[in-house]
Amino acid sequence: QATEARIEILLDEPIATISPNIYGHFIEHLGGVIYDGVWVGEDSKIPNIGGIRAALVEALRRIKPSVVRWPGGCFADSYNWRDGTGPRAQRPRRTNFWIRDTTRNLDRFQVYDPNQFGTHEFMSFCKLIGAQPYLAANVRSSTPRDFYEWVEYCNAPAGLTTLSKLRAANGSAEPFNVKYWGIGNESWGCGGNYSPEEYAVEFGRFVAWVPQYGERLAFIGSGPNGGDWRWTRGFFTKLGEKRMLGAVYGWALHYYCGSTGNRNAAVFTNDEWYELLGNADRMESLIVGHWGVMGEIDREHRVKLIVDEWGAWHARWDKMPEEYLWAYPGTLRDALVAGLTLDTFNRHADKVAMANVAQLINTIHSLFLAYEDRFIVTPNFHVFEMYAAHQGAQAVRTLFSAPSITYTRAGRPAQLWGLSGSASLRDKRLTLTVVNPYVSEPRETEVVVRNAEIRSCRARILTANDIHAHNTFDDPRRVEPRDEDVSLSGKTLVYRFAPASVTRLQLDLA
Ligand code: AHR
Repeated sequence: QATEARIEILLDEPIATISPNIYGHFIEHLGGVIYDGVWVGEDSKIPNIGGIRAALVEALRRIKPSVVRWPGGCFADSYNWRDGTGPRAQRPRRTNFWIRDTTRNLDRFQVYDPNQFGTHEFMSFCKLIGAQPYLAANVRSSTPRDFYEWVEYCNAPAGLTTLSKLRAANGSAEPFNVKYWGIGNESWGCGGNYSPEEYAVEFGRFVAWVPQYGERLAFIGSGPNGGDWRWTRGFFTKLGEKRMLGAVYGWALHYYCGSTGNRNAAVFTNDEWYELLGNADRMESLIVGHWGVMGEIDREHRVKLIVDEWGAWHARWDKMPEEYLWAYPGTLRDALVAGLTLDTFNRHADKVAMANVAQLINTIHSLFLAYEDRFIVTPNFHVFEMYAAHQGAQAVRTLFSAPSITYTRAGRPAQLWGLSGSASLRDKRLTLTVVNPYVSEPRETEVVVRNAEIRSCRARILTANDIHAHNTFDDPRRVEPRDEDVSLSGKTLVYRFAPASVTRLQLDLA
């Protein structure tokens, strides 16, 4: 295939400021995410800060994590927030939502939840890493009153209510000032099997007349599964009839690009590589599609999209313990999924107010893997580190033109674009991130910035000589980025994007 390609950055066509919250995270009481992943306990031999894994805190600080969602996921709709408060030794032990077959011998971090990590521990974690908390309320098995009381417990000023006094007795006189509140999770499924109209009624009951305690609360509705337009239309229509659309801050889309072929995270053919990237690319049409449906009712688009679960979900990996459920390191292929998805959010910075990759550690599209005292970063972490430069910058429209790739999908020819990415500007520094999905060919590309002169360029590249490459506890630096100075010929920048790569170019403009 030809390698001629062109990227044109249109500085005079700003899209919107990229919300740092697009670079958000998600932790759930599932597998090894909380217990062993985030929380090791104060008495652990594993270095920790008040029970929280120190290596995780240190690594997270490098990627500016903006917001963290907790406690689920499906777990949230079975959670009683009171269980995770008070002296840790006296907290109840509950059956975890995720393991309903309690006869199996999987008692390691799994079947029963010891509630050692609760509201205070989560707030400490957020504080340590400089992120905002985003709590998910229990709609399926709890009540609006429980929800109000959790809001009061977190946000009521010191000493003013019984619950704020209880919070102080439990270690925090100062309120947590939680702004983001999810109203249930996947309410079309594990969150209660509601119809969109029924869920709109529940949503209204939960958010009506909640005391704000000085913090303007941002309520997030449990949005659609992938391309379920009926869910979005049904909810918005019903809530519009109740004249309650003004109560919604965000509408949470969930989309996982399923794995392909034999569904093993690290075993795939070239065609399956392209197929997964093609599946991930569906995020583009989901954002545009749901935004269109929302706009049928919310004509001024006051409600923003929140993609609070996304990532590549593989079914199999043979090297982590069974009780960790979906724990796998993620290969270079997953890193390209991360890059192209974050680029998609950047390009839609006017629509997407927050996104939370699922999940932070030891599950699905993780940035980290931990097992007892071993801890590594995955290729996804490197993508988040490279893309952190986009946070809070101005997204600008960018045109990509490259020969597309033909591959075989379900026995038939299919096409994937040849280059894709996003660009943002802060002061005179332009950040351009680009995914080259082609497994074997570099892309020689002319990069043009309309109405500006490029002074200098520096590249950071994430790739490997094998598309299946991944980091392991024994080889933790198999996939990591390298930096390179790029020389300009006159005012023109011609850059050769490595095959199977995610690249960040930082251009200083005159
Ligand atoms: O991220 C794992 C699970 O996927 C979440 O708990 C749920 O919301 C989704 O189905």
